[in-house]
Parts: sequence; structure tokens; C-alpha cells
Amino acid sequence: MTTAREPLLALAQECGAHGALSLIALRVAERRGLTGRLRNWSDVLAAARTLNLCTSGALPPWPLPQRQPLAECTVDDDSLTEAAEILVGQRLGAQGRRRAGVYYTPREIADRVVALSLQHGSISGKQIRAALARERIKGESERIHRDRPLGESDPPSLEKGLAKRSDIPLVLDPCAGAGAFLVAAARAGLRRSAAMDLDADALRVARAALALEGVLDASFSRGDSLRDSPPLADLLVSNPPYGHLDDPQERVALALLFPSLRGGEIDRYTACVLRATALVRPGGTAALLVPDTWMSNARSGSIRAAVLEAAEVAAIVDLGKPFAAAKDTRVQALVLVRRPAGRARATFVGRHREVLATVSRDELQQTARRGWQVYRSNAERTLMMAMEAASVPLGDLCEVGYGMRTGNNPRHVERRPPERGEIGLVGGEDILPFALRWKPKTLCDEGPLSRLIERQLGRERVAIQRIRTNAQAPWARWLEAAMVPRELVCLDSISTLFCTDVDRLWALLGLVSSVALNRYHRLRTTDVNVKPALLRDLPVPRSLLEDARPLARLTQKRAASGDAALERAIDTLVYRAFELPEELVDEAERGFWGTRFLEERQRLHPAMSDPRARVVGVAGNLGEPH
Ligand SMILES: C[S@@+](CC[C@H](N)C(=O)[O-])C[C@H]1O[C@@H](n2cnc3c(N)ncnc32)[C@H](O)[C@@H]1O
Repeated sequence: MTTAREPLLALAQECGAHGALSLIALRVAERRGLTGRLRNWSDVLAAARTLNLCTSGALPPWPLPQRQPLAECTVDDDSLTEAAEILVGQRLGAQGRRRAGVYYTPREIADRVVALSLQHGSISGKQIRAALARERIKGESERIHRDRPLGESDPPSLEKGLAKRSDIPLVLDPCAGAGAFLVAAARAGLRRSAAMDLDADALRVARAALALEGVLDASFSRGDSLRDSPPLADLLVSNPPYGHLDDPQERVALALLFPSLRGGEIDRYTACVLRATALVRPGGTAALLVPDTWMSNARSGSIRAAVLEAAEVAAIVDLGKPFAAAKDTRVQALVLVRRPAGRARATFVGRHREVLATVSRDELQQTARRGWQVYRSNAERTLMMAMEAASVPLGDLCEVGYGMRTGNNPRHVERRPPERGEIGLVGGEDILPFALRWKPKTLCDEGPLSRLIERQLGRERVAIQRIRTNAQAPWARWLEAAMVPRELVCLDSISTLFCTDVDRLWALLGLVSSVALNRYHRLRTTDVNVKPALLRDLPVPRSLLEDARPLARLTQKRAASGDAALERAIDTLVYRAFELPEELVDEAERGFWGTRFLEERQRLHPAMSDPRARVVGVAGNLGEPH
């Protein structure tokens, strides 16, 4: 059972957040057998006194309330951290919490990151076994001392020959919050801990959480781990704060500390990634739970280069979107080994529990500027390479841009059809695959925007929806596009493609809407934001440059008729244009359709299985309109 929000808030209302957390800590201690049964208030007070002595003040984290509260709260083993998160959320409010980047990590995720750090990092199995043996024997020795009859002389020490304390790996969380990662490391046998955080209350909760896990060998310091220096660790584990840094002064300061952050928006977590390796000894491991956008962002090339200079990238594992409170944030476990690291290593890559293709350090170095596309199996890599080999980048063939940013939509956008002489606006909400379903919008007060309007008016464009956060089904297209007529202007919830050759433009609409390109795009990025920088790199088959008409006609027919069945014919043409062999077509289809693969694969045009069919021939068979 998890800590229910309402009873917790009632408890906090009655005895304050600190009092509530202390009571919960005692209840967890009772549950774990660290105290006897707490039947009444005097049992609670007595347990608090005893635990306080045995844990040197770690438990309970704050003094108990003066009186027994009326409110009750049910607990499980993780309730202390959960309760701390709920109460911090209440104190900071949703916005303040986002600004401070305070989200505590659920147990299973922290356990997984720690397990990956031990599997792929530099702490050896021998060190972990030594740490476990030391803990076991220490516990046994303490029990013998405690249980020996009064007056009996000291029993011989069991601890001879065991690893010295200083040989046991030191685990650091430099943004420790309520201690989820240090507790996970303790569960894995690493029980020498150091914690740093800006928030003194969070550190008290972390200290209590570690004490509940039986860890008393821990140091806690309040500080800014981007600037201050906690003890140099053998293993760093952390979920640092995320989110853009709003404060201009802090941005300047961080750009001075970490020069590779210069030149764009600064995300807090990237500063923490850059700082992490400096907080472990050379050869030590840093394992972080971070958003994965730094791998593919065009602007993050210098960050990727700096990471490679400081560390071997031992593992990258896609963990999806595990945070209920930040549901669009996709995260990864990133395991780095500080250089010099003893040996160069290839990067282990995973997606949840699935093992993907390993990536060499050379490849990471060669692609650091362009972006790392690592979440791929061997077959998916082969598919992408085959598509690239037959292509030129989209950015070489057409203008790829953002829609118009008004800077103030309430001022500039009115929800009504335009009158004579006014300009109609299109947003992401208006785009269905291949066509518009326009919810009329009109531009008001165009004065300050006239230059931006000029760039678009009078030009037919392909409009691609920019944000696809709501797409859940595996086969949902992330590139959802339609043709926009010359008299409408696209807003910035849209990315646009433009070229003067109208056939080419229609063919590009068919291409970006195809299964092949959607698959390619999803393998290239996990970012739901379809940015022009990524669009520019999409592959366009060279054969389409020679003759775009067959695909253009078919796409026009699909757009005009609304007949979704034509999409499979478009897909057939696109596969042909890339000259993909059957097995790579299967790879693209399987990845895109998931459970619908067999059914959908049969719906590809029969010419697909005729290796001699030419692009034009396929279009001809499909009854191309003249
Ligand atoms: C996302 S929370 C994660 C906490 C914890 N590591 C966990 O996974 O549950 C980030 C924590 O970093 C702390 N923090 C933010 N900036 C920091 C800084 N510059 N130095 C130290 N701690 C920081 C916040 O107070 C917060 O507790």
C-alpha cells in the first residue's frame, strides 16, 4: 500500500510536515522490525527515544508532535520518500517544483539505474562481494556483542581479514533529495554513502531513509554540487534536476563553469551530466537518470564532445517516461566511467529490458556533432543505413522552417473565419494526415509580424505538426503532414517545407507521411517535438529527384479523396524509391505496426514482392490519375 495523499495531508495539517514525516518514519521502522509494536502514543515516544540513540539522531528526522494526532496514515517500505515528495510538492506548488526540478525517483527506477551502474561501470564484482561480506559480518558481530550474557568477556572479533572501511566503494548522490538512489545502492550492498543537496529538509529525510535501511555510515552536506565539492566518490548515482534554467545570471555563471553549455538554452541536467565525472575519482563511475534529448539535439554537439573527452560512455538505456508528475519526459540511464578509465569500451545500449546494438567509441566520436542515434537494434541500424545510402537530406531539396511565432497568441489570434483582406492562420490542431480540417483562425494586428507573414503568403507549403505528445499507439505517425494553401499562414505549432517545384512538394508530403519515413524518424529521435533541424536530415530517395510525379499524383489523390487505403500504395512507392530489399521492408513494417504487422504487411501493394518492379510501374498499376 502506498502513502495515500489525502490522509498524509490531513496528518501534515494536524502536526506539520516535519511531524508527519517523523511519524511516518517511525511507522516504517515498526513495519521493518526496527522497533517493537507501536500500540499507543507512549510506545511511539519510547521508540523515538531508542531509535534516536541507536541511529545517532537520524531517526526520527524531526521531533515528534507534542500530542498524538487524530489523523492516521498507512505505510509501506517506501512511504517516507513518497510522503516527502508529496509534502515538498505541496510546499513548492506545481510551478515551483518544476522550476526547482524536484521529483523523487520511484524505487524500481532507482534500483534499475544502480543495477546498470554495477553491470556496466567500473565497480568490480570483487568490491561488491567484499562490501556485502563486511556488512554481513559486521551485523553478526554486533548481534553477538549485543546478545552476550552480562559479565561475559568480549567475544573474538569476526572482522579480521575483512575489507577495510576505506576499501569499500563510496557512493555519492550530489542531488540526493530524499535519498532514493543511495537507498537503492544500499540495497545492492553498497552502504558507504555521501549525499549533497540544496535542500536541508530533503537531506534529513535521506538520512532517515538510509537509517531505515540500516545505513549509518553516511555523510550529508547541504550545498550546490555544481560548484561545491562533496567527497570524491567511486560511484555517483543520481537523478539530477531537469528543466530550462530561467535565471539569466545563473545561465551566464553556468556557461562560464561549463563552456560546452554556451550557445543555446541551458538545461539543468546537462550541467549535472558535465559535472558528474568530476565528482568521481579517475576510473570511477557516474550513473545518471536524465532526459535523453541531449543525445540528439542539434545544439548539444559540444556537450556530447565534452562528455566523450571526460569519460567512456559505458551504457545508455532508454527507460521511457516513468514520472507521473512529468509525463512527457523521456529518460535514460547514462553510465559514464571517468577517464583515464583503464580500457576503452563500447557502449552498451538498451531499451527497457531489450538489448540493442552496441555502439563503438569511434562511432560516438564521429557523430558527436550531428547527434547520437543509438536506440536501435542491428536490423534497425541496417534499415537506416540502407535508406541513407539511397538518399539526399531533405534540407538539400527544400526550405525547412518553423511556422510563425506571434509571441502573444491572445493578442494576435482570433478564433473566427477571416474577413476580406484578413489572413487565415493554421495550427497543429488543423492537420489531419494529408489534409486540413481547419478550425478557422484569423490574424489580428499583423503590424509587427509583417516580415514573418511575407515569408509564407503566396506559397503552397507542406505543414508538419510539431508536437505529437498524445500519440500512444505504436503506429501513430509522428510526422503528420498536410498541404497548406498559399493564402494561409502557419503558426509555430507547425514546421514547414517549401520548394518551387510543385510535384516535388506533393511527393515530399507523401514521403514524410509514409511508414518508411515515420519509422526512420522514430529511430532517429525520441523527441516528440518535430523540429526543423531533425527534418532537414530526413532521407529523400534520389530516384524521387529524377521523377517525383508518380508519388506526387498518388499523394494528391489521397489528399483529395480522403481514402486512407491509398496510404499503403504510397508506402509501396516509397519503399521502391529507397530500393529496399524485402527483409528491410519487413523490418520497417514490423517496427511501425507492432501487433498489426502481419495484417498490414499483406496490404502493401502486390508489386512490392516483385523485385523488378520500377517506381513508375508501381504507380501505373495503382491507376495513377492523369
Ligand atoms: C530530481 S530531484 C532528485 C532527487 C533524488 N536524487 C531522487 O532521485 O529521488 C533533484 C534534487 O536536486 C536538488 N538540487 C537541485 N540543484 C542542486 C544543486 N545545484 N546542488 C545540489 N542539489 C541540487 C533538488 O533540491 C532536488 O532534491
